[in-house]
Amino acid sequence: MSLESLQSYLAADMRAVDQVIRESLHSDVVLIRQVSEYIINSGGKRLRPALVLLSAGCFNYSGRAHHELAAVVEFIHTATLLHDDVVDESELRRGRETANALFGNAASVLVGDFLYSRAFQMMVGVADMEAMRILSDATNTIAEGEVLQLLNCHDPDIDEENYLRVIRYKTAKLFEAAGRLGAVIGNGTEEEKDALGRYGMHLGTAFQLIDDVLDYSGDFLKTGKNIGDDLAEGKPTLPLLYAMKHGTPDQAASIRLAIEHGGLTEFQSVLAAIKDTNALQYTREAAQRETRMANSAISCLADSNSKTALLQLSAFAVDRSF
Ligand code: IPE
Ligand code: IPE
Ligand code: MG
Ligand code: MG
Repeated sequence: MSLESLQSYLAADMRAVDQVIRESLHSDVVLIRQVSEYIINSGGKRLRPALVLLSAGCFNYSGRAHHELAAVVEFIHTATLLHDDVVDESELRRGRETANALFGNAASVLVGDFLYSRAFQMMVGVADMEAMRILSDATNTIAEGEVLQLLNCHDPDIDEENYLRVIRYKTAKLFEAAGRLGAVIGNGTEEEKDALGRYGMHLGTAFQLIDDVLDYSGDFLKTGKNIGDDLAEGKPTLPLLYAMKHGTPDQAASIRLAIEHGGLTEFQSVLAAIKDTNALQYTREAAQRETRMANSAISCLADSNSKTALLQLSAFAVDRSF
């Protein structure tokens, strides 16, 4: 499945979402417009808004709230990226300099706050109490995930369960919210809302597992991000945890050191250990299991073009190179 075919299926709706996004960026403060337009116009796959649209599409929803909520979800995502790149000290995103590299950490953090609070103004405009609860819970959980991850950095004794908790919080929760929101405005039953929420949660988990694979194997011309960022930050992601457990004692020691100290001095030997132990393959298989669970979560929904597109989206989440 190509992302292009999904994007062309959603083209009309996504134009409406982009219109909401553009209209919602207004501010009299010039620096806010500069930074927010810089990041919003730099592309991005728009997967989370796509999930809101497809989920609503499963119920033939024909109002306007799905465009608003899709834009809200993209704003929350964008705010987390602005903050995340400061915390991770990243220099490249979406094929160009990060906002923190160009405008500085303070501007990135503060404009991230602007986007979060604008997202909340927009969701109040939609005036659906259930949608507000889903989005405010998700935003809070993302913050918990980022702080949990901060605590895990430089700690080589993190286990797989702990790692999974971080990615469910920091990434999967917003996908879960996106899936659930479409069902809420589409007037789905409780069972259908749960189904699309669970689909999003598993999809988001698979998505982050592959992001962590791409941090060791991606092509920056495709991902638009530097490889090795996670190791440089001493982030104990699954490829490292697996290679540490299954590598030789020397390899395990080298990975342990790399996590403890961060930086890229151990990068080549860590890459060799990841290769020898097939750690990326192991991580991809974990992602495949998540997408199988995502797909089976929505088996109770009636067949529709949007449901078919959701199955294609989960295939993309695992096969992607960007
Ligand atoms: C990046 O998300 C952050 C993660 C959760 C891995 P995306 O890969 O969806 O970022 P864009 O929006 O397409 O740039
Ligand atoms: C995703 O984690 C961060 C958020 C959910 C904000 P990463 O730190 O791996 O994302 P990238 O690789 O910088 O996009
Ligand atoms: Mg990051
Ligand atoms: Mg990453």
